[in-house]
Amino acid sequence: MSEKKRPEPKRLFIETYGCQMNVYDSERMRDVLSPLGYAPVDKPDDADLVVLNTCHIREKATEKVYSEIGRLRAHKERRAGEGKTTTIAIAGCVAQAEGEEIIARAPEVDLVVGPQAYHKLPELIARAARKTGERLAADFTAQEKFDALPARAPDGVSAFLSIQEGCDKFCTFCVVPYTRGAEYSRPVADILAEARALADAGVREITLLGQNVNAYHGEGSSGFADLLSAIAEINGIARIRYTTSHPVEMTEELIALHGAEPKLMPYLHLPVQSGSDRVLKAMNRKHDGAFYRGIIARLRAARPDIALSTDFIVGFPGERDQDFEETMALVRDVRFASAYSFKYSPRPGTPAAAMMGQVKEEAKAERLAALQALLSEQQRAFNESQIGRTLDILVAGRGRRPGQAHGRSPYLQAVHFMDERARDGEIVRVKIIGATQNSLTGERVVAETEAA
Ligand code: SAH
Ligand code: SF4
Ligand code: F3S
Repeated sequence: MSEKKRPEPKRLFIETYGCQMNVYDSERMRDVLSPLGYAPVDKPDDADLVVLNTCHIREKATEKVYSEIGRLRAHKERRAGEGKTTTIAIAGCVAQAEGEEIIARAPEVDLVVGPQAYHKLPELIARAARKTGERLAADFTAQEKFDALPARAPDGVSAFLSIQEGCDKFCTFCVVPYTRGAEYSRPVADILAEARALADAGVREITLLGQNVNAYHGEGSSGFADLLSAIAEINGIARIRYTTSHPVEMTEELIALHGAEPKLMPYLHLPVQSGSDRVLKAMNRKHDGAFYRGIIARLRAARPDIALSTDFIVGFPGERDQDFEETMALVRDVRFASAYSFKYSPRPGTPAAAMMGQVKEEAKAERLAALQALLSEQQRAFNESQIGRTLDILVAGRGRRPGQAHGRSPYLQAVHFMDERARDGEIVRVKIIGATQNSLTGERVVAETEAA
């Protein structure tokens, strides 16, 4: 009998930028590289393979990649001086958008792999070692990628699960349709198999991911609400979330499910971008402010305690003071539990970058500050409104103080409470006694029978 030779152990460091989709992809890259002997480390120092999983969404994110490559060059040279080889890989959305330029500009980069091609990493690494062949893999092969991925090794009680990739919506400011390609939905059977495997490995909470997750239309289902119901039937999975949704894909069926399915958490991220109909139109968001408000009203009717989160862009080309005021009015009316807001960043190749009426930097900064002040106030008010309530907390580790446990509320708030016994993955009742901008504190409610 021949014994399979174990590969030499090697150190892998992955730096992840951008959205949850990249967090999921980084995890899957670790799974792909593990059979080659790569073990993850949390610092780049002395890593044999460094992967930058990049984001192209705003200019700043992209610039970061080039400065990071400069730092890695020094890392590679230092290790070469010690007789060690270092492989540098650029993955993610900048790899997809600017792969050719990176290859041309940065000889220290050994390989470039787009978000739909990371199942090809072993082959690319082998080529890099031989110093032969193509250094770039950036084809759109979502299905091939998912089919080629090995079993998952999740750590923790919460996990991401990508069910859909790419986007056909073409908002005029956004690079995602170019970096992630056309919309692709995985078949239901594959998703359920992955979800069951996660449950078997102790995962209690699954967040379904997609650039337009609620546009899901994979083989074997009648749509996204149907898929959610199937996942809710899996034993062990106690909480289901999904992100990011597009308002035009919020079907009546999905809204109704928020009222009917207790495993679906009462917290939804639903990007609106602007409160001005003019700006929404120029953004090609395919709906107006009234449509968004209508969805929120129906969601709240179906699930009165639902909390909302959103994204905003300020300073989109042509945005006047009055348009911005309409954004502020929408925020006041809807009231968000949390939100992300950004200054518009012109992206190469997108229609908005070539539009007339680009807004001056000072106006963008001013509007962003005003919007963020209002949003923080709402976030604090939302957290404070939890004081006195008893919430179900999914325990996910120990707090910093001795005896302190840490977990997440249904609204994704971080919650700390004193409890020696709480085990990871357990869902405990906690009465909220304190709130700050970013977290809650509470006391575990002990059931009568247990207290006796
Ligand atoms: N698919 C999601 C989000 C994709 S990107 C959606 O449809 O909403 C995440 C957020 O980044 C967007 O919601 C938007 O607010 C922001 N964003 C995207 N492109 C941007 C740009 N060019 N400048 C500033 N912010 C941008
Ligand atoms: Fe970008 Fe719009 Fe697609 Fe979201 S829906 S990924 S913002 S193009
Ligand atoms: Fe960034 Fe790509 Fe996500 S551009 S936001 S990493 S889809």
